[in-house]
Amino acid sequence: MLSNLEQQPADALLALIKLHNADPRADKIDLGVGVYRTGQGATPVFGAIKAAEQKLVDTQESNSYLGPEGDMGFVHALMPYIFGKEDPSKDGRIEGMQAPGGTGAVRLAVALAKRSGVTRIIMGLPSWPNHAQILGDLAVELVSFSHAGTDGKVDMDALRGAIAAAQPGDAIMLHGCCHNPTGIDYSEAQWDEIAALIKAKGLLPILDLAYQGLGAGMEEDAYGVRTVLAAVPEALVAYSCDKNFGMYRDRVGAIYVMAQDAAALNRVLSNGHALARAAWSMPPDHGGAAVRLILEDAGLTAMWLDELDTMRARMRQVRARLAAAGQAGNIDLTAIGHQNGLFSVLPLSSEQILRLRSDHGIYMAGSGRVNIAGLTTGNIDKFIAALAAVSAGT
Ligand code: LMR
Repeated sequence: MLSNLEQQPADALLALIKLHNADPRADKIDLGVGVYRTGQGATPVFGAIKAAEQKLVDTQESNSYLGPEGDMGFVHALMPYIFGKEDPSKDGRIEGMQAPGGTGAVRLAVALAKRSGVTRIIMGLPSWPNHAQILGDLAVELVSFSHAGTDGKVDMDALRGAIAAAQPGDAIMLHGCCHNPTGIDYSEAQWDEIAALIKAKGLLPILDLAYQGLGAGMEEDAYGVRTVLAAVPEALVAYSCDKNFGMYRDRVGAIYVMAQDAAALNRVLSNGHALARAAWSMPPDHGGAAVRLILEDAGLTAMWLDELDTMRARMRQVRARLAAAGQAGNIDLTAIGHQNGLFSVLPLSSEQILRLRSDHGIYMAGSGRVNIAGLTTGNIDKFIAALAAVSAGT
C-alpha cells in the first residue's frame, strides 16, 4: 500500500532553511522563512519569555493532561488584546481554545467552517502558501481574487467583485494585519467597507491574525478583526503567538469563535474540541503557559511589549532604508516603506530569484517574498546592489 504513494516536493519555504544553512558563504543573506531577526541577524528568545519559563520551572507542579481546549488561562489572557479591553467576550459570544500554532488554528477554523456547511472560501492571492494547502487538504474550494495590484496597493475592486459574486454559505479568509506575503494591509476605512460588505452578503469571516503588534502596534493591528466582528453575527479568528512572542518552534496559537448566542457558541466549541481531539488530542502546553505567565504579570507584560516595540521599530527602519533607496536597477522599492510586518514582495522573475541565490547568496521565497527582518545595516547595501545587478536591463 504505502509504496503507492507518490513523491511530494518538500515545502518550498521550509526547504529554503536547509539550503541557506548549507551555503558556506559568510556573507549569505537569509530573507526566507518568516522569523524576526535583530540587527545582528539573531532570533533570540524574548527576555519576557525567558523570565516566564524560569517561573514555570520553579512553580509548575504537573505535566498531566489538560483537555483538548488547552490552557484556558492563556486563551482568556489574550482576549483583551485581540477583541479590546472593553468586554472582550462580547457578552459571552466569544470563546476560544488553544491550538498548535497559527497553522493549527487556521486548520481548525477551516475544519469548523466545513463542518458547518461551508464548501467555498474566498481568499485574496497571493497569500501564505499554507492557506491554500490547508484548504486543499480539507477539500474546501478556494475562490480567489487579486489581493493587490502592481502599484503595491490593495485591489479593492477585486475584493468588492469577489464579495459581490459570493454565494450563500461562503466564507471569506482575510489577514488581520501584516499581510503575508505582500505586507499590503487594508486601511481603517477599507476595513470599515469590508465589514459592511461581509455583513450585507452574510459571509462567514475567517480572520487570520498571526502578526499582531508587528505592524503598527497591538491596538492598531486589531482594528480589522474588531471592526469585522462588530458588524457580523458570527466569525472565526485564528491567532498565532509564534511571531509576537517569538515562540516559533513551540507552536503557540489559539482559535476564537464568535457565535450568535451562548448556546450556539457552546455547540461550535464542542465541535472544535472534537476536531482537536481527533487531530492532536490537545495542544502543546509549554509555550502557551509561558505566554499566560507574561500576560498575568504587569512587569513581564511591560517587558514583552517593550521587546515588541523594538522589533517593530527595527522593521520600520529597514523599510524606510529600502524606500529611501528608491530604485534598485529596475526594481522600485519605494512602496515597501508603507507596507507592514515581516514581508514584502519584489517583482522578480524565477530566474532573477535563482541568480540572487547562486551569484549573491541571497535566499528568498520563489514568490519574490522577502523577510524584511533578514536585512541589517551590515547587509542591506549588498542586497540593494545585488537587486540592481540581477534586474539591470530587464
Ligand atoms: C512564513 O510565512 O514564513 C511563516 O509563517 C512560517 C511558516 O510556517 O510558513
